[in-house]
Amino acid sequence: MELIAKYHVETDLPIQKAAEAIAAEQSTGTWTAVRGQNNPLAARVILAEGNNVEIGFPEELFEPGNIPQYLSVVAGNLFGLGDLKKVRLQDIIFPEGLLRAHRGPGFGIEDARKILGVYGRPLVGTIVKPKVGLDPAGTAAVAAAAVRGGLDLVKDDETLTDQSFCPLIPRLEAVMAALDKVETQTGKKAFYAVNVTAGADKILERALQAVDRGANMVMIDVLTAGFSALEDLSRHVKVPVHVHRTMHGAFTRDKGHGIAMLVISKLVRMTGGTNLHTGSYLGKMARETLENDLSRDALRGDWHGYKRVFPVASGGVYPAKVQGNLDGYGIDCIIQAGGGVHGHPDGTTAGARAMVQATDAWLKQIPLKEYAKDHKELETALKFWGS
Ligand code: 3PG
Ligand code: MG
Repeated sequence: MELIAKYHVETDLPIQKAAEAIAAEQSTGTWTAVRGQNNPLAARVILAEGNNVEIGFPEELFEPGNIPQYLSVVAGNLFGLGDLKKVRLQDIIFPEGLLRAHRGPGFGIEDARKILGVYGRPLVGTIVKPKVGLDPAGTAAVAAAAVRGGLDLVKDDETLTDQSFCPLIPRLEAVMAALDKVETQTGKKAFYAVNVTAGADKILERALQAVDRGANMVMIDVLTAGFSALEDLSRHVKVPVHVHRTMHGAFTRDKGHGIAMLVISKLVRMTGGTNLHTGSYLGKMARETLENDLSRDALRGDWHGYKRVFPVASGGVYPAKVQGNLDGYGIDCIIQAGGGVHGHPDGTTAGARAMVQATDAWLKQIPLKEYAKDHKELETALKFWGS
């Protein structure tokens, strides 16, 4: 069996030659012929046409379970080859033997829904803002206000970990106590994704400690921490894992060079994320409709019996952008807003209500402006940010 890697390649070389150079460099060869390079581990060119290259790598080239090693093969030196002007890893088709070495999510969409008791609608979430600067009590107050407004998930931002201005365990304890209080008073249950991202020597210990102190979800910045860190978390931590993709733009943004979000989505599903930021169809980040579609399908489609993963629409979302995102992602997604909740003129609880109302309008297929007529928080949001 083979692993098939699909690339977009821009080069002055004939495309067949460029493809052969990739196959050689990433398997048994180098810049000049060496004795013994024609051995069974040599990769082969499956396709070289236009800008499209497909390389078949023998399965034995890979150490099952070792994601960093897979990436050194399919996404390694080739990105720097002088003969290639640009190269982008578009997709990876994994052989069953490698997929078997990964368990996928410990908690998938269905598990997360069961924990919350929320079915038949997207989850609506928020990122605490300002992203840094609040202390534990301040973070807890914002989180509780958001859940009072009906949100299902509150998360840390990607740059907040365990800094001295807001240490992780006191923050977690303050937020969970505040959310418990809201649940007792209103019956509303929510996840708090506490960001446990850290160095390799600390991350699991930090996550286990967080769960021990009451965390019901942990969050990791997967591209800065690494896929193996996510895999370690998902295997050992008994709560769902929220996955942020900060840094992705460095390699997903250039459509000619880098690594496609589809590849990241597949790796996150293999290594056990429950939720993955896949980008918004409408928001503040660059518009990526096709890439969003591919990620969505890779996260939720049937694949090796892995549990399904929530795509997360996040980044510049506010009530008027909800419908466009939900049209793209459908019911099994998380729609999230930071500024679009906390920046509401009447505050966080009103902002949360407006997001929930916009989601309800989409579910009921009622035009937003019409729904806003008897939903004042939504009406205010549409007036403030535009509709
Ligand atoms: C995220 O981490 O997804 C962002 O912080 C979203 O924030 P925003 O909704 O204010 O753009
Ligand atoms: Mg953020």
